[in-house]
Amino acid sequence: MYESYYGLTGKPFQLSPNPDFFFDSRGHRCAMAYLEYGLHQGEGFIVVTGEVGAGKTTLVQRLLQRLPAREVVPVQIVTTQLDADDMLRVVTGSFGLPADSVDKATLLIRLEQHLRQLHSEGRRALLIVDEAQNLGARAIEELRMLSNFQIDSRTTLQCFLIGQPELRELMQRQEMRQLKQRIIAAYHLGPLGRDETRRYIEHRLGHVGWKSDPAFEERAFEHIFAATGGIPRRINTLVDRVLLAAYLAEKHLIAADDVVDVADEQSRELGPRRGFLGAAPGADAPEDPSMSRQAAPARTGAEGVSRGSDESPSSRLDALENRVAILESAAGMMFGSLKKVLRILRMRTGERELS
Ligand SMILES: Nc1ncnc2c1ncn2[C@@H]1O[C@H](COP(=O)(O)OP(=O)(O)OP(=O)(O)O)[C@@H](O)[C@H]1O
Ligand SMILES: [Mg+2]
Repeated sequence: MYESYYGLTGKPFQLSPNPDFFFDSRGHRCAMAYLEYGLHQGEGFIVVTGEVGAGKTTLVQRLLQRLPAREVVPVQIVTTQLDADDMLRVVTGSFGLPADSVDKATLLIRLEQHLRQLHSEGRRALLIVDEAQNLGARAIEELRMLSNFQIDSRTTLQCFLIGQPELRELMQRQEMRQLKQRIIAAYHLGPLGRDETRRYIEHRLGHVGWKSDPAFEERAFEHIFAATGGIPRRINTLVDRVLLAAYLAEKHLIAADDVVDVADEQSRELGPRRGFLGAAPGADAPEDPSMSRQAAPARTGAEGVSRGSDESPSSRLDALENRVAILESAAGMMFGSLKKVLRILRMRTGERELS
């Protein structure tokens, strides 16, 4: 709506992940390095966890753009609540192999034949499981079994697990100890730092031809960081709304107060939410909070996922609350925008009738 007013060539702050907008924050860069390190090793599991909306799926999409297509055949699974029995079927199907109405032994044979075929072509398979926090322990165990396929003592199916912080909790369980030994690297993607938040916003705007119209007051960025905690999805939601409000008020400079107004409006619509307007601007935040939580690269095995200890039931509830808040926010934004458009239409219709 505001795009043409500000001379932008597209929507700068969409909610759906789009790797073309990829911003190389320090956290994202490290996470990418871990994935590429894993790829280079050609075996074992890589686990990337991250806060809700931190950019995990965007990262995966970016990785898919960069994969050496002649060597690696990626397949992606976005899980809902897959149980162990479904896992093999879904993996087999994701390679484009027929997987319905056949027993487990047949599925295994088909999958193995396919992996052999890839191997003979000098290629190997990479299975990327997004939203892996939804998997049960048995489903993950099934993945571990699949990663046992070897030809000429080389692994034919490598696996990346991507998920929200609950995935780390899952990995701590006793029954996960065999899988943990297969994890060659694990990384936790945290939020953007204050400075990065500003560069992220400018980066996304720059991607759609922004020429500093509207301009942002320095403190406006600080308020955006404070209101969003540096979580990209929250930044997108807030800044999109700030731009809409600026357009409706025909503004070309976004002041700190404009951000505060919109953030207030959003939190009134949603109710208070953790991390939202939680940190005062200027409050200390590590430039790259993810760095403080990351696991060491290399063969960290079990250690790689055991650091960080916020997997309490209340942190899981926080994560769920955040998810619901994001959905609410998206719906609230839509209705808020519609109401404003109607208000403008009414104003303009009134003006036309008067003249
Ligand atoms: N590094 C980045 N560069 C550009 N945009 C990003 C980046 N990280 C996140 N985003 C944007 O933030 C939003 C959320 O990103 P994404 O869906 O990848 O998060 P997620 O961690 O997978 O979330 P969830 O936990 O809900 O699965 C998207 O609009 C995405 O485009
Ligand atoms: Mg995701």
